[in-house]
Amino acid sequence: TKDKNGVDLVTLQNPRGFTAQVSLHGGQVLSWKNERGEELLFRSSKANSKPPAAVRAGIPICFPQFGNRGSLEQHGFARNRIWEIDYNPPPLHRNECDGKAFIDLLLKPSEEDMRIWPHSFEFRLRVLLTCDGALKLISRIRNIGCKAFSFSIAYHTYFLVSDISEVRVEGLETLDYLDNLHHKERFTEQGDALTFETEVDRVYVGSPHMVGVFDHEKRRTFVIRKEGLPDAVVWNPWEKKARTIQDMGDEEYRQTICVDGAAVEKPIKLKPGEEWTGRLELSALPSL
Ligand code: BG6
Repeated sequence: TKDKNGVDLVTLQNPRGFTAQVSLHGGQVLSWKNERGEELLFRSSKANSKPPAAVRAGIPICFPQFGNRGSLEQHGFARNRIWEIDYNPPPLHRNECDGKAFIDLLLKPSEEDMRIWPHSFEFRLRVLLTCDGALKLISRIRNIGCKAFSFSIAYHTYFLVSDISEVRVEGLETLDYLDNLHHKERFTEQGDALTFETEVDRVYVGSPHMVGVFDHEKRRTFVIRKEGLPDAVVWNPWEKKARTIQDMGDEEYRQTICVDGAAVEKPIKLKPGEEWTGRLELSALPSL
């Protein structure tokens, strides 16, 4: 199918009835639903899906940078570009096609991209729904040029939650974080699970492979498993900032929390011919 701007959308469905919708715009997962048809990812009612704008929904991929340093646009260009379907991807090292519900996408820089970021790369993304309904994103980024480059990356995951005040994030307590609200200064988390009562914009560095997002009201736990992605970004704009974000409703900050598998603090370096692989796996489980 196509969206209203003519961009191809791919729907994945597993045998249990979980579905995911992936757009070629940004290689972005826009929707992930459980077997009861309940949506698990947030989509802003004001989301603008006309390329090259980034869509405020699902899982935008921030690449080749997370943040807004230098002349590159905020969070890089990958989320604003039209990706292609990769019909013949090189095999993955592990057998990652648990069932048939997957799609392979490819992003290569255009001449215009090369002017802003002069590095030749191939970014291959496999989006996969497992038989259990977990959503996996496997990224392979290869340097196909003749000089080394570095990048940062984040899967800016907008989880759909009942109410931000009912949400708790576990797995980041006691870690150091860089606070974007304090000029990226480094602080240490004080040991409790994270709860939210104001704007949060942080990069937790060296976080564990597993992070949990608990939604008490919905009795749902999101489990984030990540490999090759040492950091975890946590973002909620809260009321005041939400009002300044054009493509987000004033009250919608309550229905989402971004918790991203990311590699931000230490950029990833690739020499010519080298490839980096990162894996993100999201599961949504009923809480006990
Ligand atoms: C966060 C950034 O992770 O992403 C914030 O640290 C930013 O500063 C937010 O506002 C959303 O970014 P964007 O470009 O999608 O509006």
